[in-house]
Amino acid sequence: MVRKKENTATEVLVEEQRVFRPLPETVVEANITPSEYRKAIKEGERNFVEFWEKAAEELEWFEKWDKVLDDSNPPFYRWFVGAKCNIVYNALDRHIKTFRKNKIAIIWRGEPVGEYRKLTYYELYRQVNKFSNALKSLEIKKGDRIAIYMPNLLQTAIAMLACAKIGAVHMIVHSGFSAHALRERVNDAKARVIITADGVYRNGKIINLKEVVDEAMIECPTVEHVIVVKRSGQPIDMSDGRYLWWDDLMEGASDECETEILDAEHPLYILYTSGTTGKPKGVLHVHGGYMVGIFRTLKWVFDIKETDIYWCTADVGWVTGHSYTIYAPLICGGTTVMYEGHPLWPKPDRMWQIVDEFGVNILYTSPTTIRMLRRFGSELPRRHSLKTLRLLGTVGEPINSEVWIWYYENIGKERCPIMDTWWQTETGMLMITPVPVSLLKPGSTSRPFPGIHVDVVDRNGNPVPVGKSGFLVIKKPWPAMFRTLWGNPKRYKEEYFEVIPGGVYTTGDLARRDEDGYFWIQGRADDVLNIAGYRVGTVEVENVVLSHPAIAEAACIGVPDPIKGETAKIFVVLKNGYLPSDELDRELRQLIMKRLGPVVIIKAVEFVENLPKTKSGKIMKRVLKASELGIDPGDLTTLAD
Ligand code: WT7
Repeated sequence: MVRKKENTATEVLVEEQRVFRPLPETVVEANITPSEYRKAIKEGERNFVEFWEKAAEELEWFEKWDKVLDDSNPPFYRWFVGAKCNIVYNALDRHIKTFRKNKIAIIWRGEPVGEYRKLTYYELYRQVNKFSNALKSLEIKKGDRIAIYMPNLLQTAIAMLACAKIGAVHMIVHSGFSAHALRERVNDAKARVIITADGVYRNGKIINLKEVVDEAMIECPTVEHVIVVKRSGQPIDMSDGRYLWWDDLMEGASDECETEILDAEHPLYILYTSGTTGKPKGVLHVHGGYMVGIFRTLKWVFDIKETDIYWCTADVGWVTGHSYTIYAPLICGGTTVMYEGHPLWPKPDRMWQIVDEFGVNILYTSPTTIRMLRRFGSELPRRHSLKTLRLLGTVGEPINSEVWIWYYENIGKERCPIMDTWWQTETGMLMITPVPVSLLKPGSTSRPFPGIHVDVVDRNGNPVPVGKSGFLVIKKPWPAMFRTLWGNPKRYKEEYFEVIPGGVYTTGDLARRDEDGYFWIQGRADDVLNIAGYRVGTVEVENVVLSHPAIAEAACIGVPDPIKGETAKIFVVLKNGYLPSDELDRELRQLIMKRLGPVVIIKAVEFVENLPKTKSGKIMKRVLKASELGIDPGDLTTLAD
């Protein structure tokens, strides 16, 4: 192992990276060729406004813009000023006039064995029209907020698109959230309607969503109606006059509905995300710029083609589900798979079974899911052919190189490039990501997407040298960026644009850039330890621990130390078949010593059964830390258990 001048954990790890060059067949087939990609990067650097204007030209508008970007009042940027559009026109209406009319838009897979439905563009279009009319019959108007509290059901997609079609604003609350969390969000958004289901299937159980809504409704003064989808069919009490069955509303509704002509800056949806404080933040996205950003990125990064079956496993309760399960694939005229259930039900090979069942070509999932499935060994994916896969993706957290390589070898069979995509609820679209023709370095999210201006800076906004970690910031606006925090423009401005001088957008992440301009995301800014003056990303410690064959999951936190300032404590979950032992404890410490050097001082290794996670699968280190230090863990609404 070669050591550099300043021996930080980060730099040692760089030297160990393997790289993966694109395969010739990938290069031949890709939507964007290497030379086009290089050209796009140059164009995006020279004039990002023009770059995005070109992308916008590929979509349909009722009226074109007077100006591409209005940056006269930062950070309140407006894109495609003066233009009129509707994302649903691009996602549905325009396809009905082409051969795509009878193409499958959504393959919906229920959790119960053998249950699925396929909906063509024409069928989806008509269902959306009907539900748009149903909403209108309840006097829902442009700008009204509609809460959706359902997982990946067909009706969830229909409801989202119907809201957008008439200019209403959807606000999805993940169906794993509590009544308290639902109520808080519904009241903040002042929603007029909640759409939910009687019961949904999750991990072999039926979850009674309607019951949770009942509890939330005790204090939801703005809600006039609750629309209930019949999914599980178990008996529920519908005697409250505000409750309506989805099917009853749909029955009489016409299947024709005009698509509302909207201003490009008209709100599309609100999606709440948690910040560092207890109060959830309502991230607001709009029609025009958002559709341009997600369209351009899906087409180039996930390389979606007319004949592809594309599956993003995300729940629609997350931004990934909004942008890349529903909107972008439909805008591209693709066939998108929606899965209702749990990846381990009825057996841990569920995902591989679904890939083979429908012949999935593109699979986009998260490191947590991959790590969880890897725990069950390589035997399970080997029982399925997975031969249709040609491209893989991951998002949500840093993926350590061992897991990346496992995914590459066992799922992609060494022929599918992996798109490790960095982005956020706030960014709306992929921001730092490879394209299929990129050279891939496992663990790196590659380079900024063309037109996206990213930097790594210190607290004062000065760029840090190559190889050093710093704050990841975005220096120029981008079309799919959030426009504000719902009802709280002050927080939008202060929390994102005033943290680091220069008016740049602060992502809250730490990153470093290597000699090739590749980015290495090191986790949230508060996930970095300072051990005796050495900066150590907890993610890097975790990556080393995860490379040990016995370890399934790991979380590293900092604990105060009177001499060193901080030391590391590591919580580990073992793979099936391994037991905690002093020997294993010793091995892990030795491994860290070997890989990261003596700067990483380990206070303790604790073997645990589970780690506290958000419902989206992110480890909540804040909770571990609070329990370790005996302090208040703060907002726990996003905790899964
Ligand atoms: C945070 C955003 C965007 C969809 C899901 C998460 C982390 C996201 C990556 C990646 C390393 C990543 C960052 C980011 N993150 N993608 N490819 N590599 N970290 O959305 O809940 O808004 O979370 O997820 O820390 O800030 P989100």
